[in-house]
Amino acid sequence: SPSNLQMGESSMLERANCRAKGGAPGFKVAILGAAGGIGQPLAMLMKMNPLVSVLHLYDVVRGFLGQKELEAALTGMDLVVIPAGVPRKPGMTRDDLFNINAGIVRTLCEGIAKCCPNALVNLISNPVNSTVPIAAEVFKKAGIYDPKKLLGVTMLDVVRANTFVAEVLGLDPREVDVPVVGGHAGVTILPLLSQVKPPCSFTPEETEFLTKRIQDGGTEVVQAKAGAGSATLSMAYAAVKFADLCLRGLRGDAGIVACAYVDSKVTELPFFASKVRLGRGGAEEVYQLGPLNEYERVGLEKAKQELATSIQKGVSFIKK
Ligand code: NAD
Ligand code: LMR
Repeated sequence: SPSNLQMGESSMLERANCRAKGGAPGFKVAILGAAGGIGQPLAMLMKMNPLVSVLHLYDVVRGFLGQKELEAALTGMDLVVIPAGVPRKPGMTRDDLFNINAGIVRTLCEGIAKCCPNALVNLISNPVNSTVPIAAEVFKKAGIYDPKKLLGVTMLDVVRANTFVAEVLGLDPREVDVPVVGGHAGVTILPLLSQVKPPCSFTPEETEFLTKRIQDGGTEVVQAKAGAGSATLSMAYAAVKFADLCLRGLRGDAGIVACAYVDSKVTELPFFASKVRLGRGGAEEVYQLGPLNEYERVGLEKAKQELATSIQKGVSFIKK
């Protein structure tokens, strides 16, 4: 139609103007761990995002290759997404990945501190509850820590929660919004079912079933894959959804809100996942949890207990 044509023309003009000013239309994004189960589909989905003008793919096996090319992969980036590291096998907890992934995250974050200290970081590598504190300590040591720019990705918990709640309510998951707070492992994953949108209520049995299913969603996939790793395609979907919200925030769009595991004053713990407002500076506002029911208050206490240990473990990995 003529109006479509006009829109197409005006966006071409915008791009032309942008190029004329010497700037590419969009953001520069690096994926670290890009050859993996998450990294590959994530790279494809990121490439399709019109907000992305440059996409650097770094891994130890393909793309920008190995430690010597890390700096080239990172220089000038606006956003760095990190799905590098080993995934779980059946019988393992996310914390069992600590020994290998902690060192990987440390090295990659040292590279970020050196080459793109102002970039936003989306950290996916498990155990997220500890790798985010590790990244923070590396950035503090380098003197570049900006708490607003470091985000642990918990979007997959929200995607799962929306899916499972929608199944129970007989709705489309895209119509459902479930805040998931706390962290990203077992009981630290705390869905706030009393705050679901659209407003609804659950029986105690439904609450118990949904909470457990959301908390154990990752383990369910690990068992189904029977040794071949953990969730990959759903994580790539969740990661690209989250990265897109981060880029919209960086662009200056208003009202961009998502759950993420961040530096936080919402509880007495230094890191906690809750809804955050994403803006030009990253997580510009960290929202309070809102009213919790008794079931959620009990869940919160359990979550905080486990989170405290995981955070401390991450911090002392760098400080020791
Ligand atoms: P994978 O083994 O398929 O891929 C990991 C990739 O990381 C590989 O290509 C590997 O070569 C690369 N890698 C290893 N060391 C590296 C280094 N030092 N620098 C750069 N790249 C390196 O694993 P996956 O299934 O893609 O999972 C990756 C991580 O994401 C795991 O730790 C997993 O537990 C985690 N994960 C997190 C979430 C979440 O919700 N936050 C969801 C799913 C998986
Ligand atoms: C997930 O939630 O799917 C990831 O954290 C991977 C895992 O080990 O469960």
